[in-house]
Amino acid sequence: MTSNNYNPLTDTFIPKPLERPSDERKFSDSAIAELEEIVTHYPERKAACLPALWLAQREYGGSLTPAAISEVAERLELSYTEVEGVASFYTMYNLKPRGRHHVEVCTCLTCALLGAYDIVHRYEHELGVSIGGTTDDGEFTLSEAECLNFCGGATVIQVGDKYFSGVTPDNCLSLIEELRNSQKYTPSQLADSIVKIQTPGASTMGGGSFTSQDLN
Ligand code: FES
Repeated sequence: MTSNNYNPLTDTFIPKPLERPSDERKFSDSAIAELEEIVTHYPERKAACLPALWLAQREYGGSLTPAAISEVAERLELSYTEVEGVASFYTMYNLKPRGRHHVEVCTCLTCALLGAYDIVHRYEHELGVSIGGTTDDGEFTLSEAECLNFCGGATVIQVGDKYFSGVTPDNCLSLIEELRNSQKYTPSQLADSIVKIQTPGASTMGGGSFTSQDLN
């Protein structure tokens, strides 16, 4: 055994301590003002955890580092563990950096029966990554998704805040091409568009539902 966290007395491995969040704080003055506005919509500060995490995802460049989680905990008077539990439960929060486009293919029953795995394999081949991977150029992260609650439109793919339905192995590559040529989104912009829904006077951008017709 070469690992230095092996305990020969108990023949067990001592779990490595969790990464300690650094003390860096990245919320800008305007982000703090947005958070304080959002907090007024809730009966208590901690109830604003979900929108606060979107704010943090924007302020920290698209993903929730331990420092981002720590800052949310501090500003909402929650423990680090409480916020981490929320951030790790919902897949829309990025606990590690993701590509500019996060392509999530629903592989639940209805979509699977209509070719979702053929689409996944075509994407893996096209992008040169496996499920969970991010392309070297940082453009795409490929994931499987649980039922996206649009089974009538199978096969369904979610990219950020957009749904594409009726995707088939034959038309799926045109979605990749379309995204590649789109300059519109970054993970931070997506987080920002969701924060804006909660703050007054803000305009939203993006979002919506699309069909395979839009891919042609
Ligand atoms: S099974 Fe794919 S949306 Fe429900």
